[in-house]
Parts: sequence; C-alpha cells; structure tokens
Amino acid sequence: MLTSVMSRDSSFLRLTEVHQWLDGLFLAHRTALLSLELSQAKLLFDRYESNLLAHMKDEEESLIPIYGERISDVPGGAVELFIAEHKKIRGFLAEFRQALRELRKQKGLALKHKAIELLDREGMYHGLLQHHHAREQNALYPWLDLLTSVEERENLLAGCSSLSAYQAALAAGQSDK
Ligand SMILES: [Fe+2]
Ligand SMILES: [Fe+2]
Repeated sequence: MLTSVMSRDSSFLRLTEVHQWLDGLFLAHRTALLSLELSQAKLLFDRYESNLLAHMKDEEESLIPIYGERISDVPGGAVELFIAEHKKIRGFLAEFRQALRELRKQKGLALKHKAIELLDREGMYHGLLQHHHAREQNALYPWLDLLTSVEERENLLAGCSSLSAYQAALAAGQSDK
C-alpha cells in the first residue's frame, strides 16, 4: 500500500470518507429492510444509489482518465478493473431496485423470505464493494496524489459532486442517517 505524505485536505484519500458515508447510507437502508419498513427501505436505497452513482461518475469522468493517462502497470490497479467493478456495482443496484419493487407485492411469510433473500444478496454485494473501496484507497487515490499537482488535486476534488454531497450531509448532521 502506498502512503500519502501530503496533507489530507489536498489528498484524494479524502474520498475514503465518501466511501464510509455511502456504507452508512447502505446500512441504514438494510436496517429498514430488516424491519420490513419497505417504504423507508426504498427511500434510503434511492438516497444511497443516487449518491453512489454520482461518486462513480466523479471517478469515471474526472479521476480515472487522468490516472489512466499518466500511469500503467499498477499491480491490482488497472483502469479496466475499476471500470469492470463499477459495471458490476451498477448491475447489483439495478437488481436491488427491481427486488425492492417485487417485495412490495408480497405479504406474510413470503415477504419475510424474499426480504431474507434480498439481504443475502446485499451482503454479497457489500463484500464486493469493500474490495472495490480497498482497491481505490490502496492504488487509485494514492497514485493520483503522486501524479497530480496540489492545484490540480484541489480543482479535481472541488469538482467531485459526491464529496460536496457528503460535506452537505455532514453539515446538515445527516452523515450517519
Ligand atoms: Fe469506484
Ligand atoms: Fe470510490
């Protein structure tokens, strides 16, 4: 793992906080699902999904292209790997959206069984996501710190909509809800 020697403020490792925030949003959704609070579970899923999609867009449109242009052959850090994992993540999100829709048609024991199935799939997805976050935190972000100037980093981070959304949620006291 690379360690960043620069100030955290101008490091892409600040995005680690966005990952943690997203994990918290997903946990809130799963907690509502566990209690069979379906409307709340859907609402929290929507919030999680839109913020995660915005975060992946930040990475794909601003960060990964610069990383891809300036370095190659990073072990465990190929551009294709990040893009393939994002594709898998989007596939899981679409599956969960559909499953939540289906769940609203169920009742009683069938509803409980379907909710368990969905929680299992979400658990599997969560494992994949942790690997993805670790790959970014160990390769993409620290390498980007080394490949960019302070000014460039500050501009790129200021343009990350997921970081702005996280900071707005933090300011509103909603970071863990
Ligand atoms: Fe990502
Ligand atoms: Fe990320």
